[in-house]
Amino acid sequence: MFSIENFDIKLDTEYIGRTFIYAEELPSTNTFLMDRNNGYNENGTVVLAEKQTTGRGRKDRVWYSAPDSNLTFSILLTKDKFLTNNSSLINFAASLSVAVSIENLFQIKTELKWPNDVLLEGKKTSGILIESTSQGNNIERFVIGIGLNVNQTSFQGTFNYPPTSIRNELGRNVDRERLLAEILNNFELLLERIKKNKIEVINDWKAKCKMIGEKISVVENELEKFGIFYDIDEDGFLLLKTRDGIEKVHFGDVSLG
Ligand code: BTN
Repeated sequence: MFSIENFDIKLDTEYIGRTFIYAEELPSTNTFLMDRNNGYNENGTVVLAEKQTTGRGRKDRVWYSAPDSNLTFSILLTKDKFLTNNSSLINFAASLSVAVSIENLFQIKTELKWPNDVLLEGKKTSGILIESTSQGNNIERFVIGIGLNVNQTSFQGTFNYPPTSIRNELGRNVDRERLLAEILNNFELLLERIKKNKIEVINDWKAKCKMIGEKISVVENELEKFGIFYDIDEDGFLLLKTRDGIEKVHFGDVSLG
């Protein structure tokens, strides 16, 4: 059972997580926050579900997470013009906050895989799904959905990347309340740092991305492209060096080779 009291003691933010919804079960925390009619429209609202019946991943994949063991939650961002104009960097703030929090609390090394997976020992422990709703040309709300395998010990099914959990790498169960608070504290700090100096945040992100400089393949819109992972630009897009020059990749799945 998740203790909201223990989580609240560790939360040190101004607005992220100050409206906090705890649910035993939801179809998907992202779907919940994407719907403005649910009545939760406060910037920074966080919803955590112990179980999702239709947890969603990127590219219409399913996100399965063992109930009561992990962290499956979403964060709502609204009415922040700067962030909505730099939306791809929200990805970086989210994945970096998960990585930095794991390192701070458990001293285990993390790696980031573009665009937003967090790896431990080359296996995926966290995935992020960012969605938005618009009115006219304006983005109205951003929902940042984070799935983090914390205390789950076994993984059944087929995965596009081998999964792991913090528990599996650390060898002991970890306190989910403290971890969630740490992630939200770091996420808010990173959002503020992006506003002041986004290049610095991108550089921190790049320092954890081991694939830069490697030969990779990227699948974007069913199309597989090959080249060298050349760099990440100031909007957070991947720069792929191919025979024809440098190509900007907006989204996709990256693999070595
Ligand atoms: C991915 O790696 O494909 C992204 C996975 C994102 C899963 C999280 S769990 C909380 C939130 N609610 C969802 O339905 N999906 C995200």
